[in-house]
Amino acid sequence: MKEIILKQLSQLPQIASQLLKLAGDKKVFLFEAPMGAGKTTIIKELCKQLAVTESITSPTFSIVNEYTGEGGPIYHFDFYRLKNEKEAYDLGYEEYFYSGNYCFVEWPQKISSLLPEDAFLIKIDLIDQNRLLKIDV
Ligand SMILES: Nc1ncnc2c1ncn2[C@@H]1O[C@H](COP(=O)(O)OP(=O)(O)OP(=O)(O)O)[C@@H](O)[C@H]1O
Ligand SMILES: [Mg+2]
Repeated sequence: MKEIILKQLSQLPQIASQLLKLAGDKKVFLFEAPMGAGKTTIIKELCKQLAVTESITSPTFSIVNEYTGEGGPIYHFDFYRLKNEKEAYDLGYEEYFYSGNYCFVEWPQKISSLLPEDAFLIKIDLIDQNRLLKIDV
């Protein structure tokens, strides 16, 4: 396991690039963290580094947003409002997760039994004013 301390927003570009490298071939990133821990903030920076030009906001009216990055589509999920796993089937989550494209997932705990085995898990703990990222590598 690797730990990264995120103390200030100015570190984000460096940390996002580190995450992309650490992930290697893994494309499904799971952000397991409490509300307000900074999941969307990190995803925004990841998308920026993958050359997304659209604005990145958490999906509000849907569960998934699609952006265009340099290597193809990027999918941004926020499962916070998911009521049950059936809703995940209905939106066709498998097509996204197994597409080989980047998938950045907020609230993966909501679909814990549907997650791919080879996903890249990032846990974020809030400690005082800092964020501690714990990565399964
Ligand atoms: N590393 C950081 N340092 C300081 N402020 C941060 C940091 N990361 C996020 N924030 C701020 O915290 C707030 C919440 O961040 P963000 O929306 O990314 O959290 P989230 O984990 O996606 O929350 P949610 O569970 O509601 O989706 C934002 O105002 C953001 O600017
Ligand atoms: Mg969010």
